[in-house]
Amino acid sequence: MTDLVVRRLLVDMEAPIERHWCAGDAFRSALFNALSMSFPVGEQFFIDSVRNGFKALPAEKQERFRAEVQGFIGQEATHRRLHSLYNAHLEKLGLVNHWEPRARERLQLMEGADVRHWLGITAANEHFTAILADWMLHNADLLGDRDPRLATLWLWHSSEESEHKSTAFDLYQALGGDHEWRMRWFRRVTIFFLGDTLRQTISNLRQDGTLWKWSTWKSAASYLFGRRGLVRQTFRPWKDYLRRDFHPSQHDSSASQRWLAANRERFALVGQ
Ligand SMILES: [Fe+2]
Ligand SMILES: [Fe+2]
Repeated sequence: MTDLVVRRLLVDMEAPIERHWCAGDAFRSALFNALSMSFPVGEQFFIDSVRNGFKALPAEKQERFRAEVQGFIGQEATHRRLHSLYNAHLEKLGLVNHWEPRARERLQLMEGADVRHWLGITAANEHFTAILADWMLHNADLLGDRDPRLATLWLWHSSEESEHKSTAFDLYQALGGDHEWRMRWFRRVTIFFLGDTLRQTISNLRQDGTLWKWSTWKSAASYLFGRRGLVRQTFRPWKDYLRRDFHPSQHDSSASQRWLAANRERFALVGQ
């Protein structure tokens, strides 16, 4: 069981977002903006999965999860809220969110499905966010210092993703979710997640007029496949999920604890 605290981030989301807020880099800004576009709809689905999964537990198992589920819902609801404000600025920049309606349509197909399927999808997505989060916390300098507010937002979100990475997974298992379906959802989520990220990033770059610039592709190559590259560094932790005996807690989350301890002045604890 994990102790999950809900934090209200003390950042001003009223001020507009600069086009290339991430270190002046068009590719990185477009990639993170794309991810942000997926959060409001995605995180609502994760909240619903975890809430319904909790309700489906037999009474004697609920106590063990009660506080953790509340913390999970509180954290994801706060992420949703801030990323919605973030996305409203992106809209003003002329960026169009194609990911959200596509995800919404796809998730509609899940209506009425066994809650373990919902949790299988959520656990797979949470694995993605957790490995991305840990990578980001280890490479925080790549967020640049042009917009310290957004850098803080991403690092706070990453820290909490790392903190609650086991919740959906544990519920899936507590409800008797099996390995085969966990694998099936993981493969599908991988295809959708990578495909959607790529499509939305390209759309953002096209809108921005930077898709066909040499500097964009150079940045993409180094940011994804370079020595500290996202794909290069997260491939192994991604693959760990395929192991039958995998559990999210096997991955280190000390970077998250360190960031939260060193940045207490950036948030207020809710309900404490
Ligand atoms: Fe989140
Ligand atoms: Fe999450």
